[in-house]
Amino acid sequence: MLRIGLLTSGGDCQALNATMRAIVKTVYNNTKEDVEVYGFKDGYQGLIYGRYRKMDWGDFSGILTMGGTILGTSRTPFKRIDTPEADGVEKVPAMRKNYKALKLDCLFVLGGNGSTKTANRLREEGLNVICLPKTIDNDTFGTDITFGFTSAIDVATRCIDDIHTTASSHGRVFVIEIMGHKVGWIPLYAGVAGGADVILIPEIPYKMDNVVKAIERREKNGGRFSIIVCAEGAISQEEAAMRKKDYKAKIAQRVKPSVAYDIAEEVAGRTGKEVRVAVPGHTQRGGQPDAQDRIFATQCGVEAARGFLEGKFGYMIAKVGGKMCRVPLEDIAGKLKYVDPKSDLVREARMLGISFGDE
Ligand code: F6P
Repeated sequence: MLRIGLLTSGGDCQALNATMRAIVKTVYNNTKEDVEVYGFKDGYQGLIYGRYRKMDWGDFSGILTMGGTILGTSRTPFKRIDTPEADGVEKVPAMRKNYKALKLDCLFVLGGNGSTKTANRLREEGLNVICLPKTIDNDTFGTDITFGFTSAIDVATRCIDDIHTTASSHGRVFVIEIMGHKVGWIPLYAGVAGGADVILIPEIPYKMDNVVKAIERREKNGGRFSIIVCAEGAISQEEAAMRKKDYKAKIAQRVKPSVAYDIAEEVAGRTGKEVRVAVPGHTQRGGQPDAQDRIFATQCGVEAARGFLEGKFGYMIAKVGGKMCRVPLEDIAGKLKYVDPKSDLVREARMLGISFGDE
């Protein structure tokens, strides 16, 4: 008898269901043993409180194209893993106990950075865990790509496309705020795909003078409108310098919900142009996975199941240089993957005339 647990943790994204389908199908198709599948509800919460559903092959049929997660998700317990829940429950011992009570052979964790950190902690406790790289943000260290990323780029790009027509009709400047938390992967890719004029990402702090200059240059060349794509975590050079100096400010650094509005106000004041804001928000995480995400999610699920059937644990499935691989959890837990300001795409975007507001 093989017993596996599944949970989806952190912000949801497209292709979570596709990934679970691939894990379960692969396990069923490649063993002669009976298989029991336990789906924990709402991420680690389900594991902490023993909330799960016994599932079988049929539960994972017909979900390849479905967005969201059939298990539900939550952000618990990303922070303060060693402090008890509000009701006094100690998280790590509770998770260990529930894992053991079900006699699980492995727990598959579909999650981003916080979830991987927790999974690593469970590994240290002696549990068999395998992680799968989920997040629209693509900020998971140790893998070139995460599932959810390309679907989110598509949604964000469509938003930029739609804004283009109205921006052009009215001759306005638009600031479009794109998700990505502390990194700029989605804004960079969607900005290039959607033909943005300015792209502001956390990895390249901007100076407002340069943003204004870029808009004015475009106007001088006959452009009636401008599109600024800003990451929700975009920061100015002044703010970046302040965070470097002030430890508290660095700790407090978080995504400002109003970043696009602040930028819009300043641009309007300094250019005298009509400026509007568009925020696609959580639509970037919603809806069906695109074909690329479905394929990558399937690869991740198959590889994770393969590792499980080989009896190997304690790693995250990843894609590096086009190849599927396994990266040890202890090497990646707690690390973020940032956009390299010197990467090819940034260089090419600059050559095309896209401003990053830094020069
Ligand atoms: O990590 C995915 C993400 O959508 C980020 O891009 C964003 O900053 C955050 O989650 C939003 O979180 P929530 O869904 O909790 O508002």
